[in-house]
Amino acid sequence: MTRLWDRGTPLDTVVARLTVGRDPELDLRLVAHDALASAAHAEMLAAIGILSAEELAGVRAELRTIVGEALAGEFVIDPADEDGHTAIENRLTERLGDAGRRIHTGRSRNDQVIAALRLWGREALLSLHAETRTLVEGLLERAEAERETAVPGYSHTRQAMVTTLGHWLAAHAESLLDDLPWIERAYAHLNRSPLGSASGFGVALDLDRPGVAESLGFDGVQANTLAVQNDRGKSEWLALGAAVAIANDLGRLAGDLIWLSSDELRFVKLPDALTTGSSIMPQKRNPDVLELVRAGAAALRGHHAAIAGVYAPLASGYHRDLQLTKAPFLEGMVLAADLLQATAAVVAGLEVDADRCREAIQPATGATDALYARVARGEPFRSAYRAIAARPEAPSSEAAEGWRSRRHLGAPGAFDAAPERERLERAQAFGAAERERIEAVWQAFESPSV
Ligand code: ARG
Repeated sequence: MTRLWDRGTPLDTVVARLTVGRDPELDLRLVAHDALASAAHAEMLAAIGILSAEELAGVRAELRTIVGEALAGEFVIDPADEDGHTAIENRLTERLGDAGRRIHTGRSRNDQVIAALRLWGREALLSLHAETRTLVEGLLERAEAERETAVPGYSHTRQAMVTTLGHWLAAHAESLLDDLPWIERAYAHLNRSPLGSASGFGVALDLDRPGVAESLGFDGVQANTLAVQNDRGKSEWLALGAAVAIANDLGRLAGDLIWLSSDELRFVKLPDALTTGSSIMPQKRNPDVLELVRAGAAALRGHHAAIAGVYAPLASGYHRDLQLTKAPFLEGMVLAADLLQATAAVVAGLEVDADRCREAIQPATGATDALYARVARGEPFRSAYRAIAARPEAPSSEAAEGWRSRRHLGAPGAFDAAPERERLERAQAFGAAERERIEAVWQAFESPSV
């Protein structure tokens, strides 16, 4: 087919390659959401008299067919079409004639692409939210089971004080719980409609922007039409930022697990099915999955920086530069979901060797608890410190039980997963309510009667 702005002059091949870029492939992921937004836009056009009721019905039916094809992997974006938005309009025109020629009334590809990205992005954020909750649940379950498993606690990768594996697992759960509000904040940011802002300056039509927003399940409209364009890239950066916060926590968890499962420590064993072998050393069982979780987090930090690098220096209004924020956003969000799923599988299949954990405890690791036993008897801290420093080794059985004496809030001797479980439940309610709202939007789109 053709580019929407075709002037009849042939396009230089390098220019075509550079401008089209990866859009034909990347936009395939956005086609369903683009069609959903197009249906809401078409409904509004019918309400203000641009499309007839019959034309609207035709457009809606064809958009549903397009979504079906997109989900089945059958929708094709020809590079000659430039991008997914053009492919959809060309298809509507080919099948429906003037109704297709009217669909772009009151919009521009600039607000169209943002709408698709926001609709896609809010679903991706909800999935991330759900997968984070699954991992937190897995960590808390394992933490509860290992609440009495004594293990050396480390700082500077040197033995510091004895803790429990449960305390260590629950620490990772808490970090991830702290990331959920980041996702919710990014979700709220994305959950406003850009539609009707057109190229950034509005159009001379009485568009019902709030009506479109409502039928797409958005919380409201992004008001200033220029601010809509200025927000492109920023939204993606915020959303991926939440994914990066999670990935960074996963990277730390992965690093811990690589170390705790090393041949030297063997406190935990990774599930066999999730380790990989060596092509030369028959005995090897390698933690490649965890290494890729760690490196995946690094890649995400790169994607995040790439988005800011493109959007932040731009002057107001649309610039084609913004197209290059699409790949790091789409691919980054998908990668983050993979990292979460892989980590959850490892956590669920971990085998704990409680004897190894206990045997590894060095007697001197009990020094600080012994010091505090003296403090409890009234000795000044520094005098007790000096006395223990002269002979820090405690009998190892005592050292291994020292964690029980630390019972203030959050300490290993006062293990309590209830507050985390409560936070998890609240997050669960948010996820379920938003999922339901989005489902209702898709259902209304799919129902031929509307
Ligand atoms: N593929 C383009 C992008 O992602 C769509 C918007 C094109 N708009 C334009 N004014 N050339 O930015």
